[in-house]
Amino acid sequence: MSGWDALEAACRDCRACPLCETRHNVVFGDGARDAEILFVGEGPGQQEDLQGRPFVGAAGKLLDDMLSIIDLDRSNYYIANIVKCRPPQNRDPLESEQDACIGYLRRQVQLLRPKIIVCLGRIAAKRLIDENFRITREHGQFVEKSGVWMTALYHPAALLRDQSKRPETFRDLLALREKIRQVCERKYG
Ligand code: URA
Repeated sequence: MSGWDALEAACRDCRACPLCETRHNVVFGDGARDAEILFVGEGPGQQEDLQGRPFVGAAGKLLDDMLSIIDLDRSNYYIANIVKCRPPQNRDPLESEQDACIGYLRRQVQLLRPKIIVCLGRIAAKRLIDENFRITREHGQFVEKSGVWMTALYHPAALLRDQSKRPETFRDLLALREKIRQVCERKYG
């Protein structure tokens, strides 16, 4: 069994926090397991919980459209969440739930060894970039941590609620494309 398969099997059996009681499916991750770019959301919503794949609901469709602008699709990136099971009523995942789950994401990062990690929204950015991260001020900025370039975009669900944020996100996507050109080895688009 590969490192990925063993990790996914362990994650699918996980009962480390109470979210296991209400989940339909563990949402482990999706995309290319040798990708140079990793996107990280906060946690599965209803559709993701039902289908067992990340970002397949309305926010996911918007994300797919946004990323297609810069020639990214799930054949050339990997996507996962901070917590792998749906928080009831889509509330923010609790610190304790994040603590119980974050080891799976850390292992995913070790296996993938991405060049760029893109946090989708405040929760992922606070957990992975800086606990004081302010998404309204710091989205689109890049920081290097342990040799990995990290940035955050507005969460696509926020862009569904507030269309006025979309021009800024378009600029952030162009900055992401530029960073990909600088630091990734493969060609995109
Ligand atoms: N929102 C997230 O943060 N992750 C998903 O997988 C879906 C919606």
